[in-house]
Amino acid sequence: MRIDTTSICGTDLHIFKGDVPAIQPGRILGHEGVGTITEVGASVGSLKVGDRVIISCIKSCGHCANCRTGLYSHCLGDEGQSGIGWIVGHLIDGTQAEYVRVPYAGNSLHLLPEEVSDEQAVMLSDILPTGFEIGVQYGRVKPGDTVAVIGAGPVGLAAIATAGLHEAATIIAIDLDGNRLEQAKTFGATETVVSGSGWKEQVLALTDGLGVDVAIEAVGLPQRFEMATQTDRPGGNVANVGVHGKHVELYFEDLWIQNINISMGLVNTNSTPMLLRLVAQQKLPAEKFATHRLALENILDAYDTFPGRLKPTP
Ligand SMILES: NC(=O)c1ccc[n+]([C@@H]2O[C@H](COP(=O)([O-])OP(=O)(O)OC[C@H]3O[C@@H](n4cnc5c(N)ncnc54)[C@H](O)[C@@H]3O)[C@@H](O)[C@H]2O)c1
Ligand SMILES: [Zn+2]
Ligand SMILES: [Zn+2]
Repeated sequence: MRIDTTSICGTDLHIFKGDVPAIQPGRILGHEGVGTITEVGASVGSLKVGDRVIISCIKSCGHCANCRTGLYSHCLGDEGQSGIGWIVGHLIDGTQAEYVRVPYAGNSLHLLPEEVSDEQAVMLSDILPTGFEIGVQYGRVKPGDTVAVIGAGPVGLAAIATAGLHEAATIIAIDLDGNRLEQAKTFGATETVVSGSGWKEQVLALTDGLGVDVAIEAVGLPQRFEMATQTDRPGGNVANVGVHGKHVELYFEDLWIQNINISMGLVNTNSTPMLLRLVAQQKLPAEKFATHRLALENILDAYDTFPGRLKPTP
């Protein structure tokens, strides 16, 4: 497919930090993209040249044992590596390019309705399904819950934006960056806390001293995961969304008695068709995630601009 719009994920920043060791030098990065089909492989029946599509960040052959249960993140198809769903911009060349080859295109691409713009659609490659599936669904958010989202980057904001689909009552956004906290309010955060000294007292004060029902880690740092476990009330859920490249300590001696559930995982993107319908019906404001627009040849400036504060080495 020809890439018309692509974007950078926080995971691309982890790659530059060395947190994703499987990446080979010279790999074209990028697992988010919207574009137009230019050529169709022999086994793809459902798509044709000229179709406007979103690429899922996860491959899905559609018929292996894991795909049949919706666990696309562990698709057993041979492309890239069997058992690893995230291959695009990881184990094979990705979307931060003019053209990309999409394996298992029949299941890994989604046809776009005309009313959905490229900028809206590119948020469905990864961040919206990730925030929803690994944050909200794995975190078992239920009506009336108090949810804390640690890290208000695109993925954290996506969790905030989709926590409303499960009728969360209170959504507390926690970040170091005041601008991102301001953004969080526009996506549905009801409270904001600046991550720093006193964050725990503030979260407790917002929850009658109880802690939250669901804490979602959307940074990818060991201390933030620990923060999520400390934010939870007994009986609560901790949903880790962040990609971790460093050892994370799990304090069983403190946690065992808390009756908490801890979940983690790679996005499956099996919620993408549902989320796409909500975007098409203007029930999910995907367009609000786009803040900076650059030409592809200026992609390194885009990496500099991404507020992950990481600069790729040339
Ligand atoms: N599990 C998955 O399938 C999956 C998919 C996509 C992304 N991810 C991961 O999700 C995470 C978030 O992605 P993103 O694109 O939003 O990244 P990002 O870097 O834009 O966002 C991280 C946010 O965390 C904030 N932050 C940093 N240190 C903090 C601290 N000490 N306390 C509070 N906030 C802090 C930053 O200010 C930023 O707003 C990354 O780790 C990414 O790799 C996971
Ligand atoms: Zn990603
Ligand atoms: Zn499969």
